[in-house]
Amino acid sequence: MSTIRIHDREFVKSISREEIAAEIKRVAERINKDYAGKRPLLLGVLNGCFMFVSDLMKNLEIECEVSFVKFSSYQGADTTGTVKQVLGLAESIAGRDVIIVEDIVDTGLTMHKMLETLAESKPASLAIASLFLKPARLRVDVDVKYSAFEIPDRFIVGYGLDYDGLGRNLPDVYDVKE
Ligand code: IMP
Repeated sequence: MSTIRIHDREFVKSISREEIAAEIKRVAERINKDYAGKRPLLLGVLNGCFMFVSDLMKNLEIECEVSFVKFSSYQGADTTGTVKQVLGLAESIAGRDVIIVEDIVDTGLTMHKMLETLAESKPASLAIASLFLKPARLRVDVDVKYSAFEIPDRFIVGYGLDYDGLGRNLPDVYDVKE
């Protein structure tokens, strides 16, 4: 079993690069079929999505475009004290078929807010593709149409996902050791 240390925690390898590649291929095949004849805009949510977007796009055979947004939190006058904002959406998404590409859906709050914000720009359709989904953690109802892996409620790193800034470069995925 392969164990690594990042900051103060130990992590154990849980999903290999080969398994990730196979599941991404499966997701891409579904998108190729569902969007045949269309030209979807893949909207990657930085930072965690970069490896997933890259490998997903390499498996898409339909015409497609890509762009990236960032979801920022800042202290504000919201009831929670935090206001979330979508930054960096340069092009108009009105009338477009948009596929949001996310690394992981945990509570679902980020995607819920993202869908709400993007819907205001009147896209033709909006769907979510997430590499990982933690069903047990969902706190709001979000439809993740394309998810490569449903995983238990455990913190993971690798393949774009970080633990306090580190671990994004790992080609495999690791679970935090309890
Ligand atoms: P949500 O709004 O709770 O769904 O949070 C989604 C974001 O939390 C992701 O885009 C990640 O940045 C971060 N996140 C949630 N779970 C993990 C994890 O297990 N490892 C690394 N980042 C995570």
